[in-house]
Amino acid sequence: MADISFLFSGLIGRSWAMVFAAGGLKVKLYDIAQEQLTNALENIRKQMKTLKESGFLKGALSVEQQLALISVCTDLKAAVEGATFIQECTPENLELKKKIFGQLDLIVGDNVILSSSTSCLLPSKLFTGLKHVKQCIVSHPVNPPYFVPLVEIVPHPETDPSTTERTYALMKKIGQSPVKLNREIEGFVLNRLQYAVISEAWRLVGEGIISPMDLDLVMSDGLGMRYAFIGPLETMHLNAEGISNYCERYREGMKLVLNTFGPVPEFSGEIEQKINQAMSEKIPSVPKVLDARRKWRDDCLTGLAKLKKEMKSD
Ligand code: NAI
Repeated sequence: MADISFLFSGLIGRSWAMVFAAGGLKVKLYDIAQEQLTNALENIRKQMKTLKESGFLKGALSVEQQLALISVCTDLKAAVEGATFIQECTPENLELKKKIFGQLDLIVGDNVILSSSTSCLLPSKLFTGLKHVKQCIVSHPVNPPYFVPLVEIVPHPETDPSTTERTYALMKKIGQSPVKLNREIEGFVLNRLQYAVISEAWRLVGEGIISPMDLDLVMSDGLGMRYAFIGPLETMHLNAEGISNYCERYREGMKLVLNTFGPVPEFSGEIEQKINQAMSEKIPSVPKVLDARRKWRDDCLTGLAKLKKEMKSD
């Protein structure tokens, strides 16, 4: 019997399985087709070997020991039997996810946690009306969860506080970095912050203030350098003699700038073409080139994860 079941073995289902196996927990991957599961296992084995060779395999167990913790199954009832935590990883489609949670609602007991990986579907849309709604929660990972540890934990209004606490403790136990939202909100927190940055980037390029390439540099060689270690609020605290002193010094300036922000962009038309052209010159949108750049990005994240571990101060 597995401690944790993952429903569907796509990109995120596989990544979660690796994270939990690295944490020493027994996991079971479920999918409709055996072929999909065979491919998923092969992919996980390859990834673990590469990680081992480069010194980045997580956890205290060997590759073989971690692989031995992962089993697969094509029968939903058997897949969730004995599990204390079930993580749904179907594509981002409300009807599909509601169907899966509807099926689970009929077969699970009163103690198991039903968790969704959704990036943006609200818990009230996913779980309302389920008999086991108190046990339902969103645990939103960031890709790739193996190197980016944040998990946003978002309750349904009827989720029992113990479900939130157990989910939080489980994520901590396996070395992820959970944060709790007290109530649901569109975009949760990560995407709200991300969209705030994206929309201002879009407006600045659209207004011809800066080129797309230089805009990205402002983040990668500027703001992003410290944001990998401290958040915007601690940045304020350290950039003056504490928050109150920062507000005293900069509140009027910040409000002045913020009042010049424009409306929500359309993300289409001429500005889209301009940004697309600039990006495609640097990184042509063909699978081989995109994959190579993604591999480079993941290597950077791997190195950063290692550095963060070395620098950990709390
Ligand atoms: P994916 O497309 O890689 O995997 C989806 C899985 O669902 C596959 O195993 C597929 O076989 C299965 N599946 C079951 N029924 C299906 C159907 N009717 N049509 C198509 N596939 C079906 O998706 P991915 O990226 O793993 O995303 C899963 C969830 O994780 C989504 O809710 C997504 O929003 C969330 N997520 C994804 C992130 C990402 O960067 N990919 C980051 C954070 C969350």
